[in-house]
Amino acid sequence: MQRLDQAGLIAAKPFLIEQDYTKYTPEQHSLWGELVQRRMAQLKECACREYLDGWSVLGLKPERIPRLPVVSELLEKRTGWRVQPVSGFMPSRAFFEMLQARQFPTTTWLRSRESMDYTPEPDILHDALGHLPMFAEQRFADAVAEYGRVCYAMESEEKLERMGRLFWYTFEFGLIRQDGAVKVYGSGIASSQAECTNVLSGGCEIRDFSVAEVLNTTVKVDEIHKRLFAINSFSETLNAVREAREMVEKN
Ligand SMILES: [Fe+2]
Repeated sequence: MQRLDQAGLIAAKPFLIEQDYTKYTPEQHSLWGELVQRRMAQLKECACREYLDGWSVLGLKPERIPRLPVVSELLEKRTGWRVQPVSGFMPSRAFFEMLQARQFPTTTWLRSRESMDYTPEPDILHDALGHLPMFAEQRFADAVAEYGRVCYAMESEEKLERMGRLFWYTFEFGLIRQDGAVKVYGSGIASSQAECTNVLSGGCEIRDFSVAEVLNTTVKVDEIHKRLFAINSFSETLNAVREAREMVEKN
């Protein structure tokens, strides 16, 4: 029988899996703990309030790799989003389809001890520690669903590439000004010691968020960021998606 939470997904269907929790070894649980403790030591100081609230709301803990169905239930009660395990990197159409259906694709594998600092593809540390806490924030969660809806309906690769810049500089590498300081909310910074240290140590120019400027800023995936953008409130995120769609459609 088709599970209710997978109903309606067509493009994403081949990538949906179950999290086989019995496959994680004690060493992997302990590596997860080390990674989480190291990241949280920094994030307690530099993550935004909403990220830290989300972390507790979703019951994420350093002791064990999270059970995604449990996190999913907690998240659904809060913002209507579900956590859906996937086999790995997904084509963009499948990804947008899931976002518009309020299902966040989450990988289940964990990086090895040899690559504690960096993995080219997202793992459960990036997805669960980096992304999931922010989905407990309603305005952020609504903006990502709208982003999925807008991009799913867009066919031009060129337009999608420009929309990708918005995703990159907000949901992946976004910053927010809070209590007179710059705080982190993007998953790529939250899950990376090097990116987070770069922001904290002033290694990166922080510009006021502007949709037009973000859409004109290319994405470099293989180097530490030299320029990032800070919003003032999560209330801006939904409008940013709509504004970006209008700009991209016009040009
Ligand atoms: Fe990500």
